[in-house]
Amino acid sequence: MTPPRASAEPASLAERIEAYRQDTDFTATLRGHALRFHATWGLFSPREVDEGTLMLLEAVEVAPDADCFDLGCGYGPIGLTLARLAPQGKTWMVDRDFVAVEYAAANAAANRIDNAHVMLSNAFAAVPAEQRFDLVLSNLPAKVGNEALTLMIADAYEHLNPDGRLYVVTISGMRRFIERTFEEVFGNYEKVKQGRQHTVGMAERRA
Ligand SMILES: C[S@@+](CC[C@H](N)C(=O)[O-])C[C@H]1O[C@@H](n2cnc3c(N)ncnc32)[C@H](O)[C@@H]1O
Repeated sequence: MTPPRASAEPASLAERIEAYRQDTDFTATLRGHALRFHATWGLFSPREVDEGTLMLLEAVEVAPDADCFDLGCGYGPIGLTLARLAPQGKTWMVDRDFVAVEYAAANAAANRIDNAHVMLSNAFAAVPAEQRFDLVLSNLPAKVGNEALTLMIADAYEHLNPDGRLYVVTISGMRRFIERTFEEVFGNYEKVKQGRQHTVGMAERRA
């Protein structure tokens, strides 16, 4: 019989590989709603909900009938929280990564959330041109480049209802770019929250 491993002894490669194949599985209480998430390695923040995502969710005001959009949903913490906060609205969740989309859809089903629509899309590219939202939220991908971010912000404007709002969280180093681009596209910018590492910014599509 193999003796039990002393806890300080490092796991073998085979054991680590086997462990990495297992989904992560954790619960988080987001804006008062307990949600259970499965994720996998390679997705953003697979062990726990990211600090920037938590900051964004705490900063946003959500009406119960809001139609919402989660740009870059990952395994779903933002969109699924929005869907819970706005049970009379519909929340769209998109990601360009099919693995993220599969996990987000599975997490929606596992949490019995049926007012979320999860789909593969390069930002708004697969969203019908006439579709409008009251809220667009994103923990923006940091490494896609300013050109792609500018397109995301411009397309968010086009898909917002009058008085609709775009909220984003970024690492604080991107704050100036976000401020400048929100001003250019929306004509306004508000710094909603500033932490040590992250900043939440908001712009409103004025009627
Ligand atoms: C910072 S992560 C946030 C993930 C998730 N919303 C969260 O808070 O845990 C950014 C996400 O944006 C996705 N993404 C990057 N470029 C994208 C694009 N052009 N269109 C849609 N999603 C994109 C990435 O795949 C990633 O899942």
